[in-house]
Amino acid sequence: MSDNYKPGLEGVIAGDTAVACVDQGVLLYRGYPIEQLAEKATFEECAYLLLNDDLPNATELATFKKELDSFRALPKQVVDALRLIPNNVPMMDVLRSMVSMTGHFDPVSDPADNKRRAIWLTAQIAGIIAARYRLLNGQEPIAAIPGLSHAAQILYQAQGTEPDALSAKLLDLTLMLYAEHEFNASTFTARVICSTMSDLVSAIVGAIGALKGPLHGGANEAAMDMLKQFKSGEEAKAWIKDALANKKKVMGFGHRVYKNGDHRAQILEVELRKLAASKNQQVWMDIYDAIKEPMVNEKHIFPNVDYPCGLTYYLLGLPLDLYTPLFVAARITGWSAHFIEQAANNRIYRPLSKYVGPALRSVTPISVRA
Ligand code: CMC
Repeated sequence: MSDNYKPGLEGVIAGDTAVACVDQGVLLYRGYPIEQLAEKATFEECAYLLLNDDLPNATELATFKKELDSFRALPKQVVDALRLIPNNVPMMDVLRSMVSMTGHFDPVSDPADNKRRAIWLTAQIAGIIAARYRLLNGQEPIAAIPGLSHAAQILYQAQGTEPDALSAKLLDLTLMLYAEHEFNASTFTARVICSTMSDLVSAIVGAIGALKGPLHGGANEAAMDMLKQFKSGEEAKAWIKDALANKKKVMGFGHRVYKNGDHRAQILEVELRKLAASKNQQVWMDIYDAIKEPMVNEKHIFPNVDYPCGLTYYLLGLPLDLYTPLFVAARITGWSAHFIEQAANNRIYRPLSKYVGPALRSVTPISVRA
């Protein structure tokens, strides 16, 4: 029975999907290479692609963006609830609770219309992140400006001024890279919840919980937390030497699927280098490279997308606590696409376990138990 058992389900195919795949190290969203999407499309186009099977034409994209904008305003009760959460609660925990909360104000009347519900949740999640950011800074949440890109909207609603083109473009790029990644832990969580015939909001709340951990989405914050302790490449070099000698886990490196490098990290790193140069922040690239060089050359463990992403967000001036929520702001689209796919061809997930507990034994009455 346990012959095919693989800890962590490594190498196990756990379902069919047409949403995305990693084909010989290249990530494809519905057949389109992520590199081409990153160069020629936007987050909204990728979101549409994931939810609709193909890229939109100009009219379809305009309608999609209008629909997103129509769902941006947060229910008053959600903003009121945000005010009740203590300031020291991590943003991922806030987001988990507030997605559940906004779920009580679902404006989509058709229970089967999960595509529309996914667009609503995409807009709401961005609004919740921005509103929480402002409240933490002693500012009131502000309304969205219809027509801005999703990335620019998040930055505008958080910071109160329209972002410069480079910041909006870079956030848009990270959202595209984060949008989907086939059967990762959080997507699998969403599909398992869907498989019991539960609802989309429940699946997204569960997926947020799975994404939060530092082995998954929490790695972008953890990676930057590590880099932040160094003032120079030399300091980072000394630290990584010691970390490797002591078999420490280095956040933002390694991947279950990519053993020769994560394509998304390579795409983002090119833009990160330009960003650091434009901001005269070469010291951060020295630190970044000091950690990366021995990881790649001595351990053959490559950066994953979270490594360059943490530093990109840092150089964009975003607080650490926002990094994993921004991952959620993107992955909501992939999670939803998988939920819709699972619901359309469902069989409940119910694997077996390999029992390693005590052998058969008899229950003795409590009066005679030692
Ligand atoms: N630092 C140091 N050693 C590592 C790392 C790392 N980041 N990743 C893997 N290794 C080692 C690991 O210790 C093991 O060595 P040994 O064979 O001597 O025990 C070997 O490489 C194989 O790794 P593994 O544990 O079999 O890898 P896995 O597939 O079980 O885990 C992983 C994948 C991503 C959880 C893991 O690489 C890791 O913990 N990385 C750090 C956290 C991280 O960056 N997560 C983000 C993942 S990608 C994007 C996302 O989902 O957010």
